[in-house]
Amino acid sequence: MASSLAGRRALITGATGGLAEPVARRLREEGVELALIARRPEPLAALRETLAARGAGRVLAEAVDVADGPALFAAVQRLAEALGGLDILINAAGINRRYPAETFPLDEFEAVLRVNLLGTFVACQAAIPFLKRSAAGRIVNFGSMLGEIAIPERAAYAASKGAVHQLTRVLALELAPWRVTVNAVAPGPYMTPMNTPIQQDPAKSEWFLSRLPIGRFGDPEGLAEFVRYLVSDEAGFITGSVLVCDGGWTAQ
Ligand SMILES: NC(=O)c1ccc[n+]([C@@H]2O[C@H](COP(=O)([O-])OP(=O)(O)OC[C@H]3O[C@@H](n4cnc5c(N)ncnc54)[C@H](OP(=O)(O)O)[C@@H]3O)[C@@H](O)[C@H]2O)c1
Repeated sequence: MASSLAGRRALITGATGGLAEPVARRLREEGVELALIARRPEPLAALRETLAARGAGRVLAEAVDVADGPALFAAVQRLAEALGGLDILINAAGINRRYPAETFPLDEFEAVLRVNLLGTFVACQAAIPFLKRSAAGRIVNFGSMLGEIAIPERAAYAASKGAVHQLTRVLALELAPWRVTVNAVAPGPYMTPMNTPIQQDPAKSEWFLSRLPIGRFGDPEGLAEFVRYLVSDEAGFITGSVLVCDGGWTAQ
């Protein structure tokens, strides 16, 4: 039987998102104390309330723009201190902007890198001292299959996620002496709010489905279960890995 995560303390960025919210719910079921970060205060407060009503232990939340490095650093420190330490960091905040490279607005390009790459790095940097003190420190970064392979009009997103994969590997080596594991999940297409443009366009939706060997989009609950495993004691030997969860897309 898998060992319990009860009493562990986890901070999740992008907590209100389509992929992270099931992770937050799954960890809450296990009795993990949570600190949630997202940008918009209202959905974040609603999620905090829902999760807090579902069990014992603290559920904290702070609306922070992860593109603002100093604000994010201070928030991670504040939340980790309020929880009395930190065992798990999950970086799921992310955005995508889709343009041909030739006309990609520079401010949009920079926004993607700030949220996806700098946001991930800064949250890790602020969490490291706390994770080193944990008995089972874990970082899970949300990369993407587009950090490994390419499709057109994703210059910023693919570059940011490729960088997140490399950041994951470097941090895994730096933190291994403390037995803190650092991994990335690299999802393929899941129909969350991030992929509204695909969901709203039958031709785009069909194009993506036709390239998925498994013949369907991903299910966030299944991914949440996988993340639960990655933060467990049983996964303590898995580090520096980029784990694609993509219905076979990148195997082609
Ligand atoms: N869905 C997919 O198919 C897919 C595939 C590969 C990788 N991923 C990655 O998986 C992660 C989660 O994606 P998702 O599909 O769950 O996306 P989503 O449903 O659009 O959720 C994104 C989350 O990130 C937060 N966020 C965005 N910008 C932020 C900012 N500047 N500061 C703080 N929080 C911010 C959002 O909060 P607000 O709503 O408050 O802004 C929301 O909680 C992302 O890193 C994404 O790149 C997703």
